[in-house]
Amino acid sequence: MCGIVGYIGSKSAVDILLDGLTNLEYRGYDSAGVAVNIDGQVELYKAEGKLQNLKDIVEAKKAHIEKSTIGIGHIRWATHGAPTTVNAHPHSCNCGKVAVVHNGIIENYKELRERLEKQGCVFRSQTDTETVAHLVASKYAQTKDLTEAVRLATQEIEGAYALCVIHQDVKDTIVATRRNAPLLVGIGENEYYIASDVPAIIQYTKKAMYLDDNQIVTLTPTSMKYIDENKNPLEPKVEILPWEPVALSKMGYKHFMLKEIHEQPDVVRNVLSGKLRAIDEAITLNEVTLDKDNLKNLNRIQVVACGTSLHAAMVGKYIIEQLCGIAVDVEPASEFIYRRTITDKNTLVIGVSQSGETADTITAVRQAKALGSHILIVTNRPDSTMAREADSLVPVNAGIEVSVAATKSYMAQVISFYLLALYMAEVKESAAKEDIQKLKHELIILPQKIEKVLSHKEDIQICARKFSGAKDFIFIARGINFPTALEGALKLKEISYINATGYTAGELKHGPIAMLDESMPVLSILMKGGVYEKILSNSEEAKARNARMIALTNSEDQKLKDLFENIMYVPEIDEMLSPALAIVPLQLLAYYIAEFLGKDVDQPRNLAKSVTVE
Ligand code: M6R
Repeated sequence: MCGIVGYIGSKSAVDILLDGLTNLEYRGYDSAGVAVNIDGQVELYKAEGKLQNLKDIVEAKKAHIEKSTIGIGHIRWATHGAPTTVNAHPHSCNCGKVAVVHNGIIENYKELRERLEKQGCVFRSQTDTETVAHLVASKYAQTKDLTEAVRLATQEIEGAYALCVIHQDVKDTIVATRRNAPLLVGIGENEYYIASDVPAIIQYTKKAMYLDDNQIVTLTPTSMKYIDENKNPLEPKVEILPWEPVALSKMGYKHFMLKEIHEQPDVVRNVLSGKLRAIDEAITLNEVTLDKDNLKNLNRIQVVACGTSLHAAMVGKYIIEQLCGIAVDVEPASEFIYRRTITDKNTLVIGVSQSGETADTITAVRQAKALGSHILIVTNRPDSTMAREADSLVPVNAGIEVSVAATKSYMAQVISFYLLALYMAEVKESAAKEDIQKLKHELIILPQKIEKVLSHKEDIQICARKFSGAKDFIFIARGINFPTALEGALKLKEISYINATGYTAGELKHGPIAMLDESMPVLSILMKGGVYEKILSNSEEAKARNARMIALTNSEDQKLKDLFENIMYVPEIDEMLSPALAIVPLQLLAYYIAEFLGKDVDQPRNLAKSVTVE
């Protein structure tokens, strides 16, 4: 949700900025821009639409722009103001000396803008960010100190921000700060990088420092000064980033999404590694600090998450309730935060988030923490805001996920819920030893089953081609695979823009069945187990209304061939673990439909990978 980059050193800045923005494009692609300082002049280059439009503008003036060794850049996911060039960042002030890039939302921008306009500031854009540029310019006019100007400006700002600022009169300096939006500084040899996220800098340096809220960093090519909001100097906490640049390559696949779907067998192995060693050994979750007493005193678990992470949490509910006998509520984080929530010290609150930066989920877990709950975070980013504020952590180890549509991180989250439930069941002694061992065994052999699905994709491709013209799609399932139906439908919606909905199969007859006719595909998720026969009956009901029936199943039942027009098979699997296998064909189905329709698979319209606004 917007990405910012900065560079200061002795190299030409513009290529570093554009590379950084390329690797942050998953955060938004409504417009892009850079600001550089050339011969003592701040110059802005901006373009609406994809980053390539900016790259074309820069290319045309490359010989001039590449002279700058300092610069800041931005990739936008529009919140305030349409995705036009004028609203693209960087923004500037009346005199054009200041350039600001911003990720977040300035909540009091209207009042600030009114006041600044009265003082003579002329606004060019409809954005909230432009207020910051004018504010910094006016503070700089008073103080002649850019760090102090940024500090004073942020004291008047309400809302969330990561900011990078340059000023024409201080030509060897970048000032950056943050509040409720991520920002890190990469450290090189006599050079510094700034970025919203690791992918922007990992090809240049692995040495970095994360900023905390309200901290301000002032960078020159040879120095880094780091203070808190009250001007107290701070010691930088430098870390080595645990990422490899190779994660940002498509490795021969046409899209990151396809590559990430194919990484899932290894993702499962990685998640299990070091946590599940053998079926007769206890699960180890080193960063979960709940002990036996904590777990005994828990009377409820509340899980908060958004989007795909919410669906993983819904699978988690079934597993934890089944194995641990604790009631689990799952709620979208965006709903949880705007009502009185009944959480306390006897409620474990679990936040699930691929990025660890989703604003709704951060707010939800912070509210719960203030009410005394233990906060456990399941995230793919142990370096994220959520992870750093957590009491307990389950790092899901899926590796960097570039495609906006989440696939391998969902798999990793679901597997993490099995581990967490098994861990709690072992501590609480709430499940039979044989059941625990059986599930552990199934988990260990799961990667081979996923590999089997990935090596037999023909049925899925046939189905994708056949149904790519559908306007609507219905996914039905029951029990532990209801979240699979929701996630399958979400994947299809996100990347193909086909209106897809997941229903519990039993609910179909209570209303949605009215929509069925010969133009409506209904995809039934029919995994063998307790609700198999029931879903079969619900599928018969849909077929009787002429719906076009598709099955996703692990059953060889011959009667399915009469009922379903297309069947996608997955290997035999225990019902309890089946969501981790059943999702794979649905990810591929969505992928092939979108690809067949010629959609922009990795960067679907209107979306951003990391949603850092509420
Ligand atoms: O980073 P998070 O898991 O917190 O993100 C939550 C959602 O924004 C995310 O899952 C979104 O729904 C994806 N586009 C799913 O493909």
